[in-house]
Amino acid sequence: MSISQIARTISESATLKLNEKAAILRAKGDPVIHLGGGEPKSTVPVDAILATTGLLSSAEIRYTPADGTVEMKKAIIRYTEEYYRRLVSPENVIASGGAKQAVMVALQAILNPQEEVIFPSPYWVSYPEMVKLCQAIPVPALPEDGTFYPRLQDIEEKVGTYTKAVIINSPNNPSGAMYSEEFIAEVVDFCEKRDLYLIMDDIYHRLIFDNRKQINCYDYAHDLSENSKLIVINGVSKQYAMTGYRIGWAVANKRLIEVMANIQGHQTSGPSVLLQKAAVGAINGIQSSVENLRLTLENNRNLMIDYLDSFDGVKVTKPDGTFYCFADFNTYSKDSTKLAEFLIEKVQVVTVPGVEFGMEGFLRLSYCGSVKDIKDGVERMKWALDMNSPNELYIGDRKLVRDWT
Ligand SMILES: Cc1ncc(COP(=O)(O)O)c(C=O)c1O
Repeated sequence: MSISQIARTISESATLKLNEKAAILRAKGDPVIHLGGGEPKSTVPVDAILATTGLLSSAEIRYTPADGTVEMKKAIIRYTEEYYRRLVSPENVIASGGAKQAVMVALQAILNPQEEVIFPSPYWVSYPEMVKLCQAIPVPALPEDGTFYPRLQDIEEKVGTYTKAVIINSPNNPSGAMYSEEFIAEVVDFCEKRDLYLIMDDIYHRLIFDNRKQINCYDYAHDLSENSKLIVINGVSKQYAMTGYRIGWAVANKRLIEVMANIQGHQTSGPSVLLQKAAVGAINGIQSSVENLRLTLENNRNLMIDYLDSFDGVKVTKPDGTFYCFADFNTYSKDSTKLAEFLIEKVQVVTVPGVEFGMEGFLRLSYCGSVKDIKDGVERMKWALDMNSPNELYIGDRKLVRDWT
């Protein structure tokens, strides 16, 4: 079969593949613990549900403008004012099919073939593939000091004549690291001076711990005119536990938003009117669910770190936000794909291999599930990997016997 050159370079989303694998094993009756997931378990805010009932019962569900409905744009403008203290106009805003589409359409709007996009490692699995879909070149920047916190020089060293954009995702998927205010200020300033686009993927910006304060990239921008190349991405998936609704957005200069809308108009048209209504309901509704989720995640993070700390050989950096931690399993295996497969096969614990995020020897573990899953999941992993643990493990009434060394 003849497929395009671009398509041949694109790999399947590792995280989506693992979700499928977990679902298949569960359907077979296997006692799977999914520590690979990327979605909170809490329910959707009631305001999101109520917002759609009227429209649903009207039985008239129609197309929307390519860049989102008027009320959706108003809600995004309000959100931007509240969380970024910045007043933008409807022409500065586009609603997309998830933050994923917002990032993708932004990249399609700015990239020419062979241009380069820099992002710190570890990085969200989709960035390299999205850049490749634009026939451009992903350039990961691994912090030289071995931490999850890049310094400006890590980015600076990767900049060349083909560099077009930088993507910053903080707090970060997969490490949970929230980059310092100083770093964000430096990157904003650097990109302005070098005339580079800066995509701030802020999808986790309200899910932060230990009394941290949100960092607002606009505070450090010198140029907030329509020439600004700052693109801010956000969405309802994570903060409102609305992953299935597929509503995200971008805020940027008017010309760029116009071009993104043109592209999106041919790609998917505007997001579903029903889902936009729900997103508006969530954004404008009571916000207690976000704080409840944040508190639950902070508690889960603490438990996950405590369990991992008692796991000899595993090194872990305490996440500042998100619902992931990125733990170093190099002592056990340098091949994270094999290690993740081993854990699924032997103890039915799903994790995501670090190599998918640009760092071998690590596993991404999610703590967005139940406390029991976190505890049992880490215990099972420890049993499978620590040769000093007993030879048998009971999962319910199933007895597992170690047949590996
Ligand atoms: C860093 C990052 N950006 C964007 C997204 C996409 O979110 P959405 O569900 O809104 O498409 C994700 C989802 O996992 C993510 O982790």
